[in-house]
Amino acid sequence: MEDIKIGIITSSDRASSGIYKDVSGPAIEEYFKNRLVNHISFEYILIPDEQSEIENALIKLSDEHQCCLICTTGGTGPALRDVTPEATESVCEKMLPGFGESMRFESLKFVPTAILSRQTAGIRGKCLIINLPGKPKAIAECLDAVIDAIPYSIDLIEGPYLEFREVFGPAFRPGKKKK
Ligand code: MTE
Repeated sequence: MEDIKIGIITSSDRASSGIYKDVSGPAIEEYFKNRLVNHISFEYILIPDEQSEIENALIKLSDEHQCCLICTTGGTGPALRDVTPEATESVCEKMLPGFGESMRFESLKFVPTAILSRQTAGIRGKCLIINLPGKPKAIAECLDAVIDAIPYSIDLIEGPYLEFREVFGPAFRPGKKKK
């Protein structure tokens, strides 16, 4: 069983200035602790909605900390200060638009405003970066839409072998028979 590192970046002007407590970052941590058998070390960064700060945080967590996965939360909408997808695109070598498409599609079952999120995903080196909206309830709604594709995406970029807890069944890997 491989140990893994997951990065969490909360981009929020209000949470980073102490107006309220960030609950979305911890919700991401809970989601992966609950889903994966691997021992996970989490690296957590809370920053304002500044593109350069988000880019620096993404670079630090992927290159220095060697996270195999980074989830961002917040800053994906149309508001003037929302720049997380731009920061993500500018540090990624490859984009994986299917993640955003799938998350928006599934999120529409919960809120008609799901289409306002410009959330995307991409690859930087051996790290998969996924954008999530800022609302705490959106975390599981969006991750549930893409979780089955995450272990194999990380296999393809030569990252660690992610395994789900038995109650969720084995992680989907093409060519592997379901137990
Ligand atoms: N997706 C899910 N699953 N659940 C939600 O509540 N909120 C939407 C959308 N996607 C939402 C969602 C709303 S109201 C907005 S404005 C956008 O995400 C962008 O949110 P963000 O700017 O906090 O990233």
